[in-house]
Amino acid sequence: MKKIYLGSSKEMPNDKIYLFSKEKPETLENLDPKQLAFIKNQLAKEISIIEMLSNENRMEWFVAVEKNDDCQKMAETLRIQGSKVLAKIKAQKISSVGVINSSNMDHISLPFVEGVALADYKFEKYLTKKEDAPLNEIAIEDRITPEAIEELQAIIKGVFKARDLVNEPQSFLSATQLSKEIEEMGKEARIKISVLNKKKIESLEMGGLLGVNKGSVAPPTFTIMEYKPKNAKNKKPIVFVGKGVVYDTGGLSLKPTPASMDYMKSDMGGAAAVSCATYAIALAKLPYHVITLIPATDNRPSGEAYAPGDVLTMYNKKTVEVLNTDAEGRLILADALSYADQYKPELVMDVATLTGAAAIAIGTEGAVIMGNAEDRYFEEIDRAGYNVHERSVRFPFWEEYGEMLKSDIADLKNLGGREAGAITAGMFLENFTESPYIHLDIAGPAYLHNENNYLTKGGTGFGVRLLFEWIKTRSK
Ligand code: BES
Ligand code: ZN
Ligand code: ZN
Repeated sequence: MKKIYLGSSKEMPNDKIYLFSKEKPETLENLDPKQLAFIKNQLAKEISIIEMLSNENRMEWFVAVEKNDDCQKMAETLRIQGSKVLAKIKAQKISSVGVINSSNMDHISLPFVEGVALADYKFEKYLTKKEDAPLNEIAIEDRITPEAIEELQAIIKGVFKARDLVNEPQSFLSATQLSKEIEEMGKEARIKISVLNKKKIESLEMGGLLGVNKGSVAPPTFTIMEYKPKNAKNKKPIVFVGKGVVYDTGGLSLKPTPASMDYMKSDMGGAAAVSCATYAIALAKLPYHVITLIPATDNRPSGEAYAPGDVLTMYNKKTVEVLNTDAEGRLILADALSYADQYKPELVMDVATLTGAAAIAIGTEGAVIMGNAEDRYFEEIDRAGYNVHERSVRFPFWEEYGEMLKSDIADLKNLGGREAGAITAGMFLENFTESPYIHLDIAGPAYLHNENNYLTKGGTGFGVRLLFEWIKTRSK
């Protein structure tokens, strides 16, 4: 893992990045007139990352930062610039850099370094020849606190872990392995973990999770994380629930080819987001009580598999007619949402790669959010999302949509109509918790087929930074 620390320019790695104000390059110190003229010449050509060789033959990058009254926009531009500079650092095979804020703007190094660090990720476990080594050291000179750097480290660790989990194929990451990975995180960050095994899940009569698991050769798990620091600001916990479908074939309602199954190892992106956000929150020791629940299984066809037409009795005793075994996420989440109520939470929020409809509606740029909680919660999450650029857009929860979930023979069916698929999925879930409820559908942004600046190809870790930021604000 990369070391990020506060340093002074004298003791820093020799290769350096200087952040300076585009409007005021004069704030750059120790430049001779020729160098300053060169920088101005580059700026005139709209080049904002300027590469130079220092007098000691070291690399120097000068990054022109444009002031923007919209702080979020400015932070995002800095993250993207960070990822662009990383590509240049890599091209030089440099393993440690110093970042110096030479501008008159406060703590701009943080989002910049965040972008550098987040871009420096590759899932290499299965490569026999590892590519270039990641950066191992970033020193920062800026007026920022050591706590801010520790938080950044925690966030990066959380995001990388989430990406690793999403990128792992189901041949390794079974439900049991997922719970083991969470136990490891818990040990490191001092989070209390309990894993319910199949026997326990049977005794609890979690009909949704067991129904989806019926076709599987591997058992389901239900993992509970509790982070309860002594100095917690909240009396009632927030409960997060993450969809942990480690592989989704669609079951007997097999996914229609072509290619729709190819990336379904990512169907535990919600589980990765909530577990790794909890991990980061605990690593950063945020004073906030959080409980995180992960129902996990794969979803496959077999002689034993649950079938369209089956009626499941869920953990809360409601009955569900299964009309499509590919709408499995809502079945395992439903049991977890009902289970959450025992903690008397202030709010329950699930995060899930739940519907293709959400991805079709807004693409990979953000998540779809909905629920019955008070507006102020949506406002908080909206703001947090803008701060970290993990945005969401709210969909309605009008009761009329509920009509589409009526079954002839059971309390509910697991399928709405052709329309409003993301909403009917969310409204299905609302039936399973008595607590104020929010649903975040990350089917679009959880997994990318092309890299996008500091978001690498494959698992993105979407949700980790959003939840961390939100809980951080709440813990203040
Ligand atoms: N895991 C999928 C949703 C998904 C699709 C995630 C694409 C990521 C990318 C989910 O279990 C699913 O199959 N949903 C169905 C629901 C339908 C049968 C009501 C869908 O969206 O088509
Ligand atoms: Zn499915
Ligand atoms: Zn799924």
